[in-house]
Amino acid sequence: MKALVLAGGSGSRLRPLSNFMPKQLIPVANKPVLEYVLENIRELGITRIGLVVGGWADTIRGAVGDGSRFGAEITYLRQERPAGLAHAVRLARPFLGDDDFAMFLGDNLLPDGVAPVAADFLRGRPAAQVVVHKVDDPRDFGVVELDAAGGVRRLVEKPSRPRSDLALVGTYFFTSAVHRAVDAIRPSPRGELEITDAIQWLLEDGASVGCSEYGGYWKDTGRADDLLEANRRVLEGESGGVAGSVDAASALLGRVRIAPGARVVRSRITGPAIIGPGALVEDSLIGPHTAVGAGCRLRAVDLADAIVLEGTALAELPRTRGALYSPEAVLTASRAPAAAGGTAGTGGSATAATKAARA
Ligand code: G1P
Repeated sequence: MKALVLAGGSGSRLRPLSNFMPKQLIPVANKPVLEYVLENIRELGITRIGLVVGGWADTIRGAVGDGSRFGAEITYLRQERPAGLAHAVRLARPFLGDDDFAMFLGDNLLPDGVAPVAADFLRGRPAAQVVVHKVDDPRDFGVVELDAAGGVRRLVEKPSRPRSDLALVGTYFFTSAVHRAVDAIRPSPRGELEITDAIQWLLEDGASVGCSEYGGYWKDTGRADDLLEANRRVLEGESGGVAGSVDAASALLGRVRIAPGARVVRSRITGPAIIGPGALVEDSLIGPHTAVGAGCRLRAVDLADAIVLEGTALAELPRTRGALYSPEAVLTASRAPAAAGGTAGTGGSATAATKAARA
C-alpha cells in the first residue's frame, strides 16, 4: 500500500499567516501538522509516500526532505493550482499505479493515529473506506448519510442542510477502483474535483464503500481557532521536563518542557507548556497551553493559549489569550478582538479568524 498526502491547498482561512508559510507547516505543540500526518502513515507501516504540493513546494521540500527522517521515501508531485482533492488523485496516478493507497489531507490532525481505520479497510477491501466523526456543525465538511444497517447511503460535499452530523475526516483508503470515479466526475460548484463526489460516484456505480467512525481526536486545522484548540489538546499530553536553564527568580508550575538551550529568566511558566530549543523567555508570564518555538525571544509578555512560531520576537505584550504569533503575522482567535500588539515583527498584521472570513 502507498500513501498520498495532499499539501497543495492555499490556506485562505489562515491569512495573513498563510501568506508567509504553508498552512501544513504551522506547528501544533511545536511540531508541524504535516509531521503528525507523516507519523500517522509510518505507524501503518507504509513507506512510499506521494506528497502533493502547490506553490509552497520548495518550502515544504526544505522542511520535510526526502522522507528518510520518517523512515519513508517521499515523491513530490506538483499540483499547479488547488483544483480539488480528486484532481490531486488524478495527477498522482503515475505514482499510485494500481496499488491500494491511503490518502491524507496535510492539514488534518489525528494525533491518536488511524490504525483501526486501516484495519477496517484491509478486512473488507472496499473500493473506498471513509472515516467520519460527529460534529456540531457539519456544513463545512463532506457529510455522510448512513442507512439503518450502518452502510453508506450518500455523501454530499458541504451541504447547506446536512442530513446527518457525520463529517468526513480527511483520511481515506482506496483501491485502484477510485481512478475511474475520479475521471468521471465534473467540477463542483466551487470549481473543484471533489473526492466526496468521486466516492458518491463509486456508490452509484455499485462499488462497496466502507465507513469507520473515528474514536480519537480529529481537527481540520483550517482556522486559527482550530490550531489553538489542537495545540491545547496535544499539550495536555505533555509530560514536561527541563533540559534548558531556568534561573532562581523563575517558577515552573505543572507540566512544562524546557528544551535544550532554552533559557527562562525571571519568568513564571504554567503548564502544560513547551519552550523550544534555544528560546529565551524573560520577565514574562507564560501558559497554560502555550507552545513557544525554537529560537523565539520573549520579553515582558503575558501569554496563554498561544502558539509562537519559531524565530518570533515579542516584547511588552500585555495579557493576551488565544493567538498565533509568527515573525511576520499574528492571528487571533475569533472570540478575541484583532490585536497585533507588541513587536510581532515587520509587516505583521492581525486578523480575527472569524467564521465570516472562511473561504
Ligand atoms: C475537505 C473535504 C471534505 C472534508 C474535509 C476534512 O474539505 O472536501 O469533504 O470533510 O476536507 O477536513 P476542504 O478542506 O477542502 O474544505
